[in-house]
Amino acid sequence: MYQTLLTALAENIFTITINRPEKLNALNQTMIRELGEVVEEIYQNPVIRGAIITGAGHKAFVAGADIAGFSGLGKAEGSRLAKEGLNVFFKIENSPKPIVAAVNGFALGGGCELAMACHFRLCSDTAQFGQPEVNLGLIPGYGGTQRLTQLIGKGRAMEALLTGNLIHAGLALQYGLVNYVTTPADLLEKTKGILQQIAGKAPLAIAKCIAAVNAATGNPEGFAMETAFFGECFGTGDMKEGTAAFLEKRKPVFKGI
Ligand code: COA
Repeated sequence: MYQTLLTALAENIFTITINRPEKLNALNQTMIRELGEVVEEIYQNPVIRGAIITGAGHKAFVAGADIAGFSGLGKAEGSRLAKEGLNVFFKIENSPKPIVAAVNGFALGGGCELAMACHFRLCSDTAQFGQPEVNLGLIPGYGGTQRLTQLIGKGRAMEALLTGNLIHAGLALQYGLVNYVTTPADLLEKTKGILQQIAGKAPLAIAKCIAAVNAATGNPEGFAMETAFFGECFGTGDMKEGTAAFLEKRKPVFKGI
């Protein structure tokens, strides 16, 4: 049914697997569109009481937006790309049914942002989180500057965003970015167990609880500023150099232009 996602429904829990392991499940435009469609399925299907998002393979949850897809894009296309992803991620965040990330490896850039848009996160002890966009002459575009700051606090978020350094599972637990760290083999079962517990509660109360918690966080102006700045980065020489260097497997040389 989907080109880039696998889905399975068992005991009222819907599991969505991002399925592009040869590119470490990097998010391309088809995947963003299909994520929007699959989340609509969560909203509409009364049998679904909770959902898990995970990644195919052992190496990655999602290693970011597809950097190859950035080539040749200008400011307007950059902003449009950010808005499309951001809207899908808002739809995840505002789902009346819980959507939980089971992070099974690298969750970088858009992958970290996808995990952070979920209601909460569990990860395997092999997971690594990060917003390495600065290595590409970019900033996050799917809400990373906002949600990372909300989840781990300003100082830690600032360091992670400015250095691009990765946050391994143990540190992610210490920071409160994830609720539990499991072995890779236990990750999905542990996540399903929590969702099954929630599925036993009153669905209308669950939906209102999610909406009320969401109302406690988030600043629309911050998200809009991030989108505008992400677009502006697409007009810079540094972004062209950073993305070209990644694809050519070499170190970038940034000039501040
Ligand atoms: N976009 C497009 N392709 C990506 C990708 C991304 N975000 N992340 C990984 N890939 C591709 C690689 O280009 C490579 O493709 P190839 O086999 O055709 O050369 C394949 O996935 C495997 O990745 P590789 O880099 O060889 O694996 P690794 O184990 O050496 O490194 C990472 C793993 C995650 C550290 C590295 O892939 C990486 O830094 N990815 C980009 C992370 C990033 O900047 N994300 C933010 C994007 S906005």
